[in-house]
Amino acid sequence: MGKLWAGRFLKEEDPRVNDFNSSVSFDQRMFREDIAGSIAHASMLGAQGVISPDEAQAITSELERIRAELEQGRLSIDPTAEDIHMFIEAELTARLGDAGKRLHTARSRNDQVALDFRLYLRGEIQAIAAQVRELLSTLCALAEEHASTVMPGYTHLQRAQPITFGHHLMAYAQMLLRDLGRLEDCRKRMNFSPLGCGALAGTTYPIDRFQTADQLGFAGPMLNSLDGVSDRDFCIELGSALSLIMLHLSRLSEEIILWCSWEFKFVELDDAYATGSSIMPQKKNPDVAELIRGKTGRVYGDLITLLTMMKGLPLAYNKDMQEDKEAIFDAVDTVKLCLLTVTPMLGTMTVLKENMRAAAAKGFINATDCADYLVKRGLPFRDAYKAVGTLVALCIREGQTLESLPLEQYREICPLFGEDVYQAIDLENCVNGRKAAGGPARENVLAQIAWVKEQLKYGE
Ligand code: ARG
Repeated sequence: MGKLWAGRFLKEEDPRVNDFNSSVSFDQRMFREDIAGSIAHASMLGAQGVISPDEAQAITSELERIRAELEQGRLSIDPTAEDIHMFIEAELTARLGDAGKRLHTARSRNDQVALDFRLYLRGEIQAIAAQVRELLSTLCALAEEHASTVMPGYTHLQRAQPITFGHHLMAYAQMLLRDLGRLEDCRKRMNFSPLGCGALAGTTYPIDRFQTADQLGFAGPMLNSLDGVSDRDFCIELGSALSLIMLHLSRLSEEIILWCSWEFKFVELDDAYATGSSIMPQKKNPDVAELIRGKTGRVYGDLITLLTMMKGLPLAYNKDMQEDKEAIFDAVDTVKLCLLTVTPMLGTMTVLKENMRAAAAKGFINATDCADYLVKRGLPFRDAYKAVGTLVALCIREGQTLESLPLEQYREICPLFGEDVYQAIDLENCVNGRKAAGGPARENVLAQIAWVKEQLKYGE
């Protein structure tokens, strides 16, 4: 493909430089955005009298034809093109002649690429937010079903206090709601148009940047032309929001991996979401969850790539910035892929309630409640804590649990204990007594679920 800048140059470009410089292999996914941006630019140039209305119309119709042909696979993208912007402009010019050559009036590839990139990522944010919402709905449905399913709550991965599976799942719902907020926030800040910033210093043509911004669904034009072409904050903000989504999915995956182990056996994955071993016939492996945990590193890596790529760049555009696309596209693709699998994996897994209940019955998970029982009878908490510690040590020595230990032995340690202690340490009572806002009592969890569902309505 003959270079546009052939006038200034006396030699052809070395093919190795052409390959090295070219971004068309990865920026071709923005062809729709490139065309939408060019159509907005051409209509504005026509309306402002910079080109004739007929030329604007011809450009628009031909660009629409090119878009349809690309979508249907009737036009293939030249792999030796420098980028998608050059390819589409060259194709347009080959078809229209002079009118095609006029499209780039009052525009540079620097504002063009910044525009396409914003339009593209804006669309991806919507798609990812819809997937996060779907995951949230699945979590709410599961949590509703398990609002009374008692399981051990952990700290330090040691059994700590009784909670319900519903409560545990709703913790992830809170994380994901914050993720939705971050995506929306990022979309809002991203939603300003760089078109018309030109190469770096705007233009002398009488363009209307408000019109193009409006036509493309932006809140308005970016207010500084240097910033318009050299800002990639929006991309880094998205990379950061995506990193947090992955962090949350990775923690959930880690728990699923633990819960699938024979040591826990709290859940059983559907056969469609697990894999076998090539040598050990008994194995059923949680590969999907492991891969999500593993892919988290890629997305963090993408974020670091972007941050590092930008940190030393003088204003305004520098070619280093072409490296933004592969990084954020990889992050976007990875997050979408993970959300696509994690939601049905959760929706189809079997929850082994009895195993959760049995695990909660071991490990003196109700010891805090036992101490609270004494506090309600007037003992200061620290004394109650000590008495129950002594009780637990006694149980361990004698192979008992707090439930099975006879009342006389309770009384030997503290005479405040009465028959009703067994009620107080009953796991269901322990859970449902935790009614303070945000706690695991069934009514609280149901209220949390209702609240999350309400939030989901707003974002639609
Ligand atoms: N392919 C380039 C990119 O992705 C487009 C902008 C090129 N601008 C330039 N002045 N060379 O960043």
